[in-house]
Amino acid sequence: MPPPATLILGGTSEARELAGRLVADGLAVTSSLAGRVADPALPAGTVRIGGFGGPEGLTDFLRREPIAVVVDATHPFAAMISASAVTACAAAGAPLLRLARPGWAEHPAAGSWQWVDSYPDAARAAGALGCRIFLTTGRSTLAHFARLEASYVLVRLVDPIDQPLPSGWRVIRSRGPYTVEGERSLMAKHGIDVLVTKDSGGELTAPKLTAAGELDVRVVVVRRPADHVGAPQVSTVDAAVEWVRCMLTGPTNVGSGQ
Ligand SMILES: NC(=O)c1ccc[n+]([C@@H]2O[C@H](COP(=O)([O-])OP(=O)(O)OC[C@H]3O[C@@H](n4cnc5c(N)ncnc54)[C@H](OP(=O)(O)O)[C@@H]3O)[C@@H](O)[C@H]2O)c1
Repeated sequence: MPPPATLILGGTSEARELAGRLVADGLAVTSSLAGRVADPALPAGTVRIGGFGGPEGLTDFLRREPIAVVVDATHPFAAMISASAVTACAAAGAPLLRLARPGWAEHPAAGSWQWVDSYPDAARAAGALGCRIFLTTGRSTLAHFARLEASYVLVRLVDPIDQPLPSGWRVIRSRGPYTVEGERSLMAKHGIDVLVTKDSGGELTAPKLTAAGELDVRVVVVRRPADHVGAPQVSTVDAAVEWVRCMLTGPTNVGSGQ
């Protein structure tokens, strides 16, 4: 019988780091990826790929597999899987922790950005602010920007696009992390006057925000979806490691380094 594992709902750099830390501690880890990215960076430990089939499917998985605790370390905008985790963990009686990196609301320039609640609002705001747009909200959001009034749209994606795009749009493919220097030169080269992003948070993709400030590029930020109440939340991998250790071995061993 394998030892009970920590299930990490992943797809983020924090999820990968958490898996690596727990495996290095000698703990059993199963990471779950959605399977959206063609060539994902795989975390340490066991990896499963693909949806569970909604909250019911995840509940079945938790009952069937030797899972002791669950950490939802998915992206802050992956709202469906986070909701599924809350429902399934409650049904299966599995302890759940939410690990979500802090957003960019505390960034020094955040007060100068236009914050909106949805992608359609972001499209309207961007069209009103400028005409050469840098769109970094991800492949699944592009349809919301199809009627964006702009002379030029630069779209940055990780994976290839499988849908036709309006004329005047140009796609570049890359995966972070990025540097301020690289982001500054990219936006200057394309004559960008508006950057559109979602509040993903974290350090790896934040340099575009600093570069936009330096170039006087206006910034439109889509706010995060509401948190799903039902799980304690932490914002660092350290805190998640401590929670897992505490849940698996009891509070007296936390901080003992074992
Ligand atoms: N949204 C973003 O901007 C973004 C950015 C970077 C990385 N990611 C990562 O990409 C994945 C998909 O994001 P999304 O926004 O499409 O999520 P989503 O809308 O919350 O999820 C849609 C469906 O995909 C499946 N799914 C999502 N994450 C999964 C996981 N870690 N393991 C197994 N199944 C998963 C679930 O299918 P079932 O209902 O069938 O279980 C879920 O209902 C997430 O794991 C997320 O961490 C997302």
